[in-house]
Amino acid sequence: MERQSLIITSDFSGDLRSSIQTIAPDRLFVLVDDHTAQYCWPRLEEALKALVGEFPPATLISIASSDEAKTLDTLASVWTALSQGGATRKSLLINLGGGMVTDLGGFAASTFKRGIAFINIPTTLLAMVDASVGGKTGINFCGLKNEIGVFNNASTVIIDTQFLRTLDHENLLSGYAEMLKHGLIYSDVELKCLLRFDLEEVDYVELAEMVARSVAVKQRIVLEDPLEHGLRKALNLGHTAGHAFESLAMAEGRTVLHGYAVAWGLVCELYLSATRCGFPTERLHQVRQFVAANYGHFAFTCKEYDRLYELMTHDKKNTAGHINFTLLGAVGDIRINQAASKDDIFEMLDFYRES
Ligand code: GLY
Repeated sequence: MERQSLIITSDFSGDLRSSIQTIAPDRLFVLVDDHTAQYCWPRLEEALKALVGEFPPATLISIASSDEAKTLDTLASVWTALSQGGATRKSLLINLGGGMVTDLGGFAASTFKRGIAFINIPTTLLAMVDASVGGKTGINFCGLKNEIGVFNNASTVIIDTQFLRTLDHENLLSGYAEMLKHGLIYSDVELKCLLRFDLEEVDYVELAEMVARSVAVKQRIVLEDPLEHGLRKALNLGHTAGHAFESLAMAEGRTVLHGYAVAWGLVCELYLSATRCGFPTERLHQVRQFVAANYGHFAFTCKEYDRLYELMTHDKKNTAGHINFTLLGAVGDIRINQAASKDDIFEMLDFYRES
């Protein structure tokens, strides 16, 4: 995989110009969803207008904004728009949006004519600290999240935290769960800072600094292990249980945002970390309280344990016959490939429901 350049910008227009210049495209396409078309495209459009004459005019491609639209049909609509717009191997796709846009757009670009260049401009907190960085692209398939996709880096990821000012509270919380995860796998100091931060009265200056530190945690890990053979599995903390909650919710028509499911999954997997790897129970309860106060609780009954277990068997980290978790021995002490039995998993679900 080619190396990805990551810019946390305070000069959006200037950084955009240099990023496009590096690629020197023959045609320019911008992928938006119906939300970013309204709230974020005007900012990018203005920046592109300042570059008129230097680059070809942009063709806008718009898709629906929900995770349910992360499908083969939507992907085909992007390929069709690229094809009808005359895209060639030298064209560039700019993905402007949250994780759905950067994942699907990245996959569309990676497969169109066997691969064209793309730039990610994440507009949600989730996409800034996680989805847009590290080359995971793809779509949902057969009821499973991100089941089809490829690893392929964007040429550049441009993070402009000004976009966060128009983000709604739920989506802010959704991204913040991935920041909590980064704090947990990185350092106690960072975790304490995250648990202290007031998500009701957001200090955007402090948040921007925390985003920079959070994305640096991810960047370091993906540079060391881009294809998730080892260390990158650390980034799946909270996701084995979290994805199962998310898939169950989707199947039952009570859609939850990804980060909420991750936050609930973190509580579950820190419990497993405590019982199996000695993770400090004081930290477990601090995180549990923070998650309950900000994200509420995912309701399910013991009748759904088998279904949740079955969903966990589809996790991409599994090896034949084992559900593998990423756990922690302490904050920053990562233990990958921790196999858990069905009994362990049911006990974890009991803990979550009772806590
Ligand atoms: N979202 C986890 C990863 O990028 O590996």
